[in-house]
Amino acid sequence: MTDHPHVLVTGGAGFIGSHTADVLLKRGCFVTVLDNLSTGYRANISQLENQQRFQFIHGDVTGDVKGLLSKAAKRFGPIDRIAHFAAQTAVPISVDDPATDIAVNLGGTARILEYARHNKVAKLVFASSSAVYDDDAPVPVNEESRARPASPYGIDKLAAEFFLDYYARIFGLTFTALRFMNVYGPRQDPKSWYSGVISIFLDRAVTNQPITIFDDGEQTRDFVYVSDVAEVFAESLMSDKGNSAIINIGTGVEVSINTLTRTILDLAGSSAPVKHEPPRAGDIRRSVTTMDKAVELLDFHPKVGLREGLAETLAWVRTQTKTARPPAPLKHASP
Ligand SMILES: NC(=O)c1ccc[n+]([C@@H]2O[C@H](COP(=O)([O-])OP(=O)(O)OC[C@H]3O[C@@H](n4cnc5c(N)ncnc54)[C@H](O)[C@@H]3O)[C@@H](O)[C@H]2O)c1
Repeated sequence: MTDHPHVLVTGGAGFIGSHTADVLLKRGCFVTVLDNLSTGYRANISQLENQQRFQFIHGDVTGDVKGLLSKAAKRFGPIDRIAHFAAQTAVPISVDDPATDIAVNLGGTARILEYARHNKVAKLVFASSSAVYDDDAPVPVNEESRARPASPYGIDKLAAEFFLDYYARIFGLTFTALRFMNVYGPRQDPKSWYSGVISIFLDRAVTNQPITIFDDGEQTRDFVYVSDVAEVFAESLMSDKGNSAIINIGTGVEVSINTLTRTILDLAGSSAPVKHEPPRAGDIRRSVTTMDKAVELLDFHPKVGLREGLAETLAWVRTQTKTARPPAPLKHASP
């Protein structure tokens, strides 16, 4: 591998992908972002656009990937490594329209895997999800916990992991799959109707709109800050760490939605009213991961605690509140 490998970041104009592109550029990589801007924004990568080692390709992972990437290789040489984030990320959409979810999340992954197979790509790291686990899995979940997805989105992530393993066995692909818990931070679109609970609650706190908590608020999640995720993703991609492994990426810290809400209101100095609504079907009660495998294989120790991460995210949300996009519907304002 050269000192300046060429890395493809699919979905790199999105929330986590753009932070990972930032890290890879800082490490001296040549970076090509391939994104169809369906949920990503050029603004997320505007800080990279004038860098000589960066290029953006507006294109679809379900389209002519070979043709699109041959253009990318003309400028920066062959693609050495792939960070694969591009996906339809809305669980409710996957429930309403499984065929589209399959087309993008499995169909797109199949095209990226075929590209990797035929172009001697040294390693591919895949953005998987804790949505693969059984809702009734014992808490905390570990990588051996039963995978039994509750949505087509989770099924596609799990099936993609099987494809990675198949390509590794049959074609010698080197891969790592990282199953993210709840990732949060700047650039997570608070106006999107499937956005994470933190970006929605921060947006509502800042604009003094009601915050809706489904159930009693004692349900828990494992919130991991985006810079920690981007760093560990890049580290795994650029090294042998985590080769052939599927690894949970969280913090191991279980935070209730009530605690989260109090912290957000406190940090924002907000008096936004909080109301409770009945539990939503399908919402799991507790979610947190063990850290053993991430520590052992990736030496992963998240650096940013919840309060610090929320403060950073709040500062970003405050710069965004004047955008013209419509507010997030209340029905999705809970994890
Ligand atoms: N945010 C989380 O908490 C979380 C948790 C688990 C897994 N993930 C996974 O991490 C990845 C990144 O998620 P995110 O939160 O940054 O979401 P995001 O929506 O911000 O990023 C997804 C990116 O993929 C792009 N994209 C979508 N379909 C595409 C296509 N067909 N061709 C090319 N580009 C396409 C979008 O425009 C967007 O820029 C996804 O694979 C998601 O499933 C995220």
